[in-house]
Amino acid sequence: MAQLWGGRFTKETDQLVYNFNASISFDQKFYKQDIKGSIAHVTMLAKSGILTDAERDEIIKGLEGILADVENGTLPITSEYEDIHSFVEANLIDRIGDVGKKLHTGRSRNDQVALDMRLYVRDEIVELKALVLDLMKTLHKLMKENTETYMPGFTHLQKAQPVTFAHHVGAYMEMFKRDYGRLSDIFERMNYCPLGAGALAGTTYPLDREYTAELLSFKGPTLNSMDSVSDRDYVIELLSALSTIMVHLSRFSEEIIIWNSNEYQFVELDDAYSTGSSIMPQKKNPDIAELVRGKTGRVYGALTSILTTMKGIPLAYNKDMQEDKELTFDAIDTVKGCLALFNGMIATMKLNKPNMAKSATGGFTNATDAADYLVNHGVPFRDAHGIVGRLVLRCIELGIGLDDLSLEEYKAISDVFEDDIYEAISLKTCVEKRNTIGAPGTEAIKKVIDINEEYLKGIE
Ligand code: ARG
Repeated sequence: MAQLWGGRFTKETDQLVYNFNASISFDQKFYKQDIKGSIAHVTMLAKSGILTDAERDEIIKGLEGILADVENGTLPITSEYEDIHSFVEANLIDRIGDVGKKLHTGRSRNDQVALDMRLYVRDEIVELKALVLDLMKTLHKLMKENTETYMPGFTHLQKAQPVTFAHHVGAYMEMFKRDYGRLSDIFERMNYCPLGAGALAGTTYPLDREYTAELLSFKGPTLNSMDSVSDRDYVIELLSALSTIMVHLSRFSEEIIIWNSNEYQFVELDDAYSTGSSIMPQKKNPDIAELVRGKTGRVYGALTSILTTMKGIPLAYNKDMQEDKELTFDAIDTVKGCLALFNGMIATMKLNKPNMAKSATGGFTNATDAADYLVNHGVPFRDAHGIVGRLVLRCIELGIGLDDLSLEEYKAISDVFEDDIYEAISLKTCVEKRNTIGAPGTEAIKKVIDINEEYLKGIE
């Protein structure tokens, strides 16, 4: 039991209490951030005349030694310490003696942990953004390659109107663009340094908080010491943004599972991204998509946990807040894994274009276009809707589609129809005529692809 406190106690901590209270098993994950923060802190202490330059140099050398030894495996982080802060400080004192005891001058573990968590989350946001960017690049490529890959668009999972694969994937591209933006916004909003807030009420030392903030690349110091040690909004925001990423990945996964099914056969997942069955030799299962869909629940769980943990905590620091870490680490690692695997899965899947086009031709996906044909010939839309409804009924009786219905049959229901109806309701026309911005027509989608190209260049 290596603790940073004990002077006012007359008894040893009960072992079960110690175990329950300790956070080293998980907060060791930010040893790097803890050491980086301590180096900035002592640099500032020396600049402010609180430590001598020689003391600063000795402490920094000691901290750098600890970092190197943790990384090369010679200094394991063990449960003998209460938390990562105690581990670093105790090891520093072991290494450099009494001068190490000056490290914690003008600092509390409350502002220290607030800093470590911010540094950690900030680093992870950078990595998460890179992964979302990789995924967007894959989606962009798929869009460019599939502006004329026709497929049915669905509402209520019923065939509705034909679209293209570029258009369908383009919908996800927009979602991930917003996800990327959300991560950037969170980074900007949280990018202020809490160090110097002390336990809750600042310190009596003349700390140069602006300088510490600058050393750690923050925009500036936080402006209220009580808020600094109590704020976990950025964790809530991050977990909310991660949950939204998971909604998108999960919906996309669900679609891929459907498209990859024996019934649809729109796509075939690569062998490297599929799994088999222990009993049924023929099976090739979309487990990766299913796992991404499944792990969404964990990330939502993390968001619900932190919201619940934070809701009743009076200002300022309370130990409840130690609970922010495991769930945040788990959610970040889960989302990073899902983004990387999902990206690999869609980059390698094959499209069964003939099947997609065939499916887009069936199911009366051109019925709206048949009605639009009548409107273009002067029939009011509501009447046109009724006429085409009767045509569809006739086709169902005959077991054929609108493309195969004879002109005679068309004319029997409305004599407005002429021979050019077939061209007007062909799959190609149905898609290509939809050319307002945001629609699936090639001209429209190419404009969006150009916009996305510029967008991607701007953030790379
Ligand atoms: N392990 C603690 C946490 O994660 C560090 C801060 C401890 N502060 C304290 N006053 N006990 O929140």
